[in-house]
Amino acid sequence: STVDWEIGSYDTGGYAHYLLKEIHEQPGAVERTLSGRLDERFSTAHLGGLNLDARELREIRRVKILGCGSAYYAGEMGAQLIEELARIPAHSEPASEFRYRNPVIEADTLYVAVSQSGETYDTLAAVQEIKRKGGRVLGVVNTVGSAIARECDGGIYLHAGPEISVASTKAFTSTVVAFALLALHFGRIHDLSPADGRRIVSALKALPEQIREVLGQQAEIEKLAAEYAESQGMMFVGRVRGYPVAREGAQKLKEISYVHAEAYPASELKHGPLALISPELPTVALVPDDELLDKNLTTLGEIKARSGRVLAIAHRPIEAKLADHCVVVPKSEPELDPLLLNIPLQLLAYHAAVALDRDVDKPRNLAKSVTVE
Ligand code: AGP
Repeated sequence: STVDWEIGSYDTGGYAHYLLKEIHEQPGAVERTLSGRLDERFSTAHLGGLNLDARELREIRRVKILGCGSAYYAGEMGAQLIEELARIPAHSEPASEFRYRNPVIEADTLYVAVSQSGETYDTLAAVQEIKRKGGRVLGVVNTVGSAIARECDGGIYLHAGPEISVASTKAFTSTVVAFALLALHFGRIHDLSPADGRRIVSALKALPEQIREVLGQQAEIEKLAAEYAESQGMMFVGRVRGYPVAREGAQKLKEISYVHAEAYPASELKHGPLALISPELPTVALVPDDELLDKNLTTLGEIKARSGRVLAIAHRPIEAKLADHCVVVPKSEPELDPLLLNIPLQLLAYHAAVALDRDVDKPRNLAKSVTVE
């Protein structure tokens, strides 16, 4: 498939910043990532570019995902999707560290490099190290024909369209969608049932409309952002599927608003960071309506008991004694919920940055793609 844009013709299209435009382009980006790849007949995904047939895929015992920054966090969501849907051990790690520790490369591990630009030096160097040792690497890349795409043995193009703003939003979302397709494909080769396959296929099809629904709450999130932007710092917490969302939410906030942000698994709070909780350091809590809901509600109670302020991102309103504010997002299937829980955090970071008068599209000290070591 092709992406219809030309260099030079891309402007902010009436939005105040590229970032806001790209946040709003997400429904279309997800549609393009999915386009032609859902197979309703067999409740699976078609991924022509993998260059691996079903027999070769069955021999894979582990998946190792590599990326930097948001690409690494998208990889964490991807690893959870692969483990949940295909029951293959999967793990994401920073590509920037990989080559320095003389990594063990195994023949039955599938390596996946994630990059929006396809030009990030650290990720490219990780791919080269794997290939030098005879490993097999797939790319999950947005930019067609980029250095990383060319170096990989196969992969999935995102087709998210150009991303100009330094902070990644639509490429992040499309990356997670690409991993959902890979996990579905893998899962259906292994033991994921046709019924579960159908459940994921229809949830993927519903995503663009559900993202639109979240974006419809922009005015409300803008007000919350102006209030929370005044904080000394912010804590982001989530459990299991919610933890990579917390990490990406904290990354986005610090990157464009320069507000200090930390992400922790909710279960780790009591092992140290609870000492930081005070009215000056509010918490953004991911509270999906899944099997961990009760545990997450207990965490909110613990934060409130230490006079912490809580902004919950949830699937239904949270009672006032547990959360000061709540943004309600539509429910997907549990495995795909992280995608939708992340969207309000993009808007929160964007509006916090605007409220603090930051250079939203070009934050200080950062480049869109880091092509040096
Ligand atoms: C994301 O908001 C950041 N700008 C940054 O972490 C980025 O995701 C990272 O540098 C990787 O870039 P890439 O996807 O182009 O490889």
